[in-house]
Amino acid sequence: MSSVPSTQRAWRVVTRGPPSKALKFVTDLPVPTKLESGHVLVKVEAAALNPIGYKLMKWLPNFVARRPITAEQDLAGTVVDGNGTRWKAGDAVWGITLGKPHGEGAMSEYAVLPQHCLAGRPPNVTPTQAAGIATTALTAYEALFDSAHLKEGQTVFINGGSTAVGAYAIQLAKARGLRVVATASERNREFVTKMGADEFIDYTKVDLAAHLSSNPPSPKFDGVLEAVGLIGNDLYAQSEKYLAPGGVFVSVGPQPEGLSDAGKFTKLLYNISAPRWFGGINRKWSVLAFSPREEVMTDLHNLFAEGKVKPIIDSVYAFEDALKAYDRIMTKRATGKVIVKVDPNVE
Ligand SMILES: NC(=O)c1ccc[n+]([C@@H]2O[C@H](COP(=O)([O-])OP(=O)(O)OC[C@H]3O[C@@H](n4cnc5c(N)ncnc54)[C@H](OP(=O)(O)O)[C@@H]3O)[C@@H](O)[C@H]2O)c1
Repeated sequence: MSSVPSTQRAWRVVTRGPPSKALKFVTDLPVPTKLESGHVLVKVEAAALNPIGYKLMKWLPNFVARRPITAEQDLAGTVVDGNGTRWKAGDAVWGITLGKPHGEGAMSEYAVLPQHCLAGRPPNVTPTQAAGIATTALTAYEALFDSAHLKEGQTVFINGGSTAVGAYAIQLAKARGLRVVATASERNREFVTKMGADEFIDYTKVDLAAHLSSNPPSPKFDGVLEAVGLIGNDLYAQSEKYLAPGGVFVSVGPQPEGLSDAGKFTKLLYNISAPRWFGGINRKWSVLAFSPREEVMTDLHNLFAEGKVKPIIDSVYAFEDALKAYDRIMTKRATGKVIVKVDPNVE
């Protein structure tokens, strides 16, 4: 630990608001010196943004978010102190911070992570690529295999094949021998096809629920992953027509933009919970709340190491330019992960 400085640079969320107001770049944040059992200290090389980061900045009151707190949760780096866990100083890793009380966030030069939230970074994946894996690949993995229980030979419909979650879901589904039908806008057709989708639908050209209802696949989809966060309810409300009985409709979480979405949200909740004879939908609806597990992290590590799943990057920004990275992710048009290089010298 002798080469570890006592203070570090970090992007801290200091108040509620858009990133330009909520974030402060500090140069004197103490580097943690005491690690709790099972926690590891990592020198961060790169961090990645997720939409939930700026959404929580805007929505959550300070006391709920425990501010000030270091921003974001995904990173890649090198273990500095393995603290008696299976990790050793010098190990190249990627992973996810869990925030307080298990540490802080990812946008700092040093971060503390529970040991099960790390995976080894294989040599074929650079730190900037690896930084963007954790949240979205875990979400995709757990949605497909833990929530929807999809198996080889089955077919999944992925709404939002060009979201980072959707793009990892396509690759993971193909790696496990599933057939994939995915949506995106026309500009992302090539990207979604390159990820491995067998069939592409341009969601801007059709009313998706109506299109699938009048052209249902035969047999019906074995699972649906709604990887955009739509608050609109139609895709689920019509799903009996194209989702097999027993198939699960997994959502990454419907995300209201404001009070104007309250009506749609209420309708969705009604369809999910009401009995069928009273307007409910006879298909299981499930919202994904991923939880990192060592065996899933290891499985993902192996899939990346074998080249069966490839990292996806939209853009890379310097540490000092993190606000520009937020501008990019907030366009909702990123194709792949938006990365911030914490160490300017890494690939
Ligand atoms: N539950 C969880 O634990 C969890 C974890 C991670 C993420 N999420 C949520 O999952 C969603 C996706 O996150 P992400 O990081 O993967 O997003 P992202 O990569 O930032 O998404 C950007 C992409 O979304 C596509 N898109 C935008 N609107 C669309 C629509 N109506 N239909 C289809 N595609 C659309 C855009 O493609 P086009 O330009 O082609 O439209 C763009 O390529 C977010 O709502 C996020 O908050 C939830």
